[in-house]
Amino acid sequence: MDLMQDIIARAKADKQRIVLPEGTEERTLKAADQLLADGVADIILIGNPAEIKELAAGFGLNHIGEATLVDPKNHEKKAAYADLLFQLRQKKGMTPEKAAVLVEDPLFLACLMIKAGDADGEIAGAENTTGNVLRPALQIIKTAPGMKCVSGAFLMFTKTPQYGDDGILVFADCAVMPNPNAEELASIAATARNIVGVEPRVAMLSFSTKGSASHEMVDKVVEATRLAKEMAPDLKIDGELQADAALVEAVGSKKAPGSEIAGKANVLVFPTLEVGNIAYKLVQRLGGAEAVGPILQGMAAPVNDLSRGCSVDDIYKMVAIACNQSIGLKSAK
Ligand code: ACO
Repeated sequence: MDLMQDIIARAKADKQRIVLPEGTEERTLKAADQLLADGVADIILIGNPAEIKELAAGFGLNHIGEATLVDPKNHEKKAAYADLLFQLRQKKGMTPEKAAVLVEDPLFLACLMIKAGDADGEIAGAENTTGNVLRPALQIIKTAPGMKCVSGAFLMFTKTPQYGDDGILVFADCAVMPNPNAEELASIAATARNIVGVEPRVAMLSFSTKGSASHEMVDKVVEATRLAKEMAPDLKIDGELQADAALVEAVGSKKAPGSEIAGKANVLVFPTLEVGNIAYKLVQRLGGAEAVGPILQGMAAPVNDLSRGCSVDDIYKMVAIACNQSIGLKSAK
């Protein structure tokens, strides 16, 4: 099973417009060049056009001329986007003066382009922190209709084919919601079903399996499982489960007999961000898994954050994933 190749093929078949606000960043430019060469997406680069062209020539890139270049300080829609920002945020204290400054910030500009219908998705974070990438997206693009919160999942390509789908698992939330309540946790589980190409079997993780421990933290996971079933009645989900009960058939059948998820889970929902973030990094570093993400779930349009240690290949894959998310969101409308 080559899930990533499927994702890239789907992106090529229905090209989306992806805006890259860090348009003068080396890895971003190299990924953009390869994406254009392969015909994966239409690329919009934000940055000074002369600087982008000079850098591209210096790196020996031949396809950047096919990208749309948007100079944040000087482009024809600048006033319209500033007005859009003012209209969207005036109840939160936005003034025309503040909007005129923020519209030149590439991270705000990218979100305004998406909100105005001029782009389909955004990838950033090679230079910026998660908070700085996410805040304008949460303020401008906001959640998709019916979604309570945005969370961040990772596609984990592990070296343990006996677990998940040939070793592929989704981990959520590993990036956004520090301490979700039961309703928010349920929403994270319900949105994890939308991860590209994965038919979900969701385990709601805890340090307890089916009442083996009693604690308010366990109660939260039990309640979140109940709420997620209400939100998404056809979703295959069970909890609370310990990680071994979720993944290992022999353990699952002993600790949670009769569960259709125990021992078969391919989506692991963690009770807090601390657990999710630490878990994905341990599986990545100690277990040698490839971690692709965070893929943001629940947003009205795809905005995916990068690690500042990301590679050219990571950016390429995240753009392809954003294209798939955009195609999925458009078809759900
Ligand atoms: N879902 C939906 N909307 C949200 C969410 C969410 N999870 N979080 C905040 N918002 C909304 C708020 O309601 C608010 O809307 P409004 O202004 O229209 O009322 C808007 O977003 C901005 O909210 P703020 O309170 O200004 O933003 P906040 O300071 O809470 O920042 C953020 C949100 C950046 C996501 C914060 O929760 C955060 O820093 N989370 C942790 C990110 C992180 O560091 N992750 C770990 C690293 S990632 C990695 O390792 C891969």
